[in-house]
Amino acid sequence: MSPHSLHLRLVGGRAEAGSPSVPIDPIAVLEVDHVLKLELCDALERLADGLPNETDMALAKVAVTVLRRGLPEHIELEGRHLFPLLKRRLSGDEIFRPVLEQLEFEHEHDDAFAIEISEELERLAEAGKARNAEMLGYMLRGFFVSLRRHVCWENATVLPLARRKLTENDLDELREAIVARSLRHAVGRSMDAFIGVRTKPAD
Ligand SMILES: [Fe+2]
Ligand SMILES: [Fe+2]
Repeated sequence: MSPHSLHLRLVGGRAEAGSPSVPIDPIAVLEVDHVLKLELCDALERLADGLPNETDMALAKVAVTVLRRGLPEHIELEGRHLFPLLKRRLSGDEIFRPVLEQLEFEHEHDDAFAIEISEELERLAEAGKARNAEMLGYMLRGFFVSLRRHVCWENATVLPLARRKLTENDLDELREAIVARSLRHAVGRSMDAFIGVRTKPAD
């Protein structure tokens, strides 16, 4: 099964995410989330490169949806579940705790910045023109560079550590949060739309 189909099975609300016959690997779900975050970064880079004259309005619209739903849902899963569980398992670790705290700080920053960017992209998608192309380009580049670095760092440190340190009970908590997320359908809808645009052949 490809990572994307796994993700769609888990968050698209179309398959047996909670079925005992399909055990969810919650860390794999986070890995797939990260693949999609990197796809979002690529989309934002394409939009930035197209400024001020070449606007892919459909891509801008989908990016708005992902920024408003997919990204906050992912940050919530990490901030409310993964990071607290890891902190509990690493309570005596003086090296890794500051790393988690830095990543938490970046979550707050990304959440707030994503709202600002989504407002500008919404305008771009509707009007076909940025209010201030230079400013939007600057915002987009700042955002996707930082988000790429954040995701790469989590892939290199947080997720491998989670695989080693989390207990079965911890993984159960993560599974429950993922199933609850899939039931809300929010990420599934936005990611479905995002994948649809991403996989559309170029003209
Ligand atoms: Fe994160
Ligand atoms: Fe993450």
